[in-house]
Amino acid sequence: MTEFRQQSSLDTEQAARVARVLGEALPYIRRFAGRTVVVKYGGHAMTDPDLRSGFARDIALMKWVGFNPVVVHGGGPQIGAVLERVGKQTDFVRGMRVTDEDTMDVVEMVLGGSINKDLVNRINQSGGRAVGLTGKDGGLISARKLAAVADEADLGYVGEVAEIDPAIVRTLEADDFIPIIAPIGVGPDGRSYNINADLVAGRLAAVLGAEKLMLLTNTPGVLDADQNLLTGLDDAHVRQLIEDGTIAGGMLPKIECALEAVAQGVAAAHIVDGRVENAVLLELFTDAGVGTLIRAGNQAGDPEPPSDQPPTLA
Ligand SMILES: Nc1ncnc2c1ncn2[C@@H]1O[C@H](COP(=O)(O)OP(=O)(O)OP(=O)(O)O)[C@@H](O)[C@H]1O
Ligand SMILES: [Mg+2]
Repeated sequence: MTEFRQQSSLDTEQAARVARVLGEALPYIRRFAGRTVVVKYGGHAMTDPDLRSGFARDIALMKWVGFNPVVVHGGGPQIGAVLERVGKQTDFVRGMRVTDEDTMDVVEMVLGGSINKDLVNRINQSGGRAVGLTGKDGGLISARKLAAVADEADLGYVGEVAEIDPAIVRTLEADDFIPIIAPIGVGPDGRSYNINADLVAGRLAAVLGAEKLMLLTNTPGVLDADQNLLTGLDDAHVRQLIEDGTIAGGMLPKIECALEAVAQGVAAAHIVDGRVENAVLLELFTDAGVGTLIRAGNQAGDPEPPSDQPPTLA
């Protein structure tokens, strides 16, 4: 007789643990079935190809268990590496790259091209059906030029989100494709603008009525002045941490967009360490509670394990 079952390398104790973990995941799978989860994959967390493959597998798995993942990716370090290779010098103002026309060409090539297609390919290799987009496709992201701050330098083609038209994302979701979005928008002048991926992810989560916004970065979450992880944050606490300078640099747009998303109805935003293997699955399917959870108003705190009841649809 043919033995269909694959020879397992697990001993009994390990197998019991796997079964327990799957059991723990069930209420989460039921709760999120058919719901949209926007995941921002930070450029700093995606430098390791093995981690990128792990991330791709997690996203494909999310789709297979019934979630609707939508990925927005960054790419600062990868853009920097290509600019260096072609000998193009750029300046930074308040952590943002001054982006002239030539630089924008490189940004578009790297963000919308190599990084985007690498993620698409890895997800497809893992059994998902990913489709790569920039904000140009289907008129997804309308941008406006980011206003120069006081007397500071003109940032060039650095933009912010003016409007999101989610029709193309909805269409892809309906046909079980996984949208992978590079944060490039189109200005009223018809030009391309580079937008911080956190800002795109936050707005997209709000517009799509996502259940969750997950921001994968290169720190364990939001850290306090003593470098301890803050597991839960609300609006008032965040304001205080920004004021005293504890939250700065690349964490600023992340936290701002997380607050905005939860204020607009996204149930929870999580800032998670993307350098940890299976970071997405850990956050979604276990009671472990990883990273920093941001909730609206004064609801911050450790995440409640979901009820085992089927969700009531809003
Ligand atoms: N209070 C804080 N807690 C944690 N990180 C902080 C804090 N304040 C500032 N940071 C900085 O924010 C960085 C994360 O933002 P950053 O923009 O560098 O990465 P990313 O958004 O994940 O990647 P990308 O911008 O390429 O998409 C951290 O590496 C850290 O240096
Ligand atoms: Mg960033």
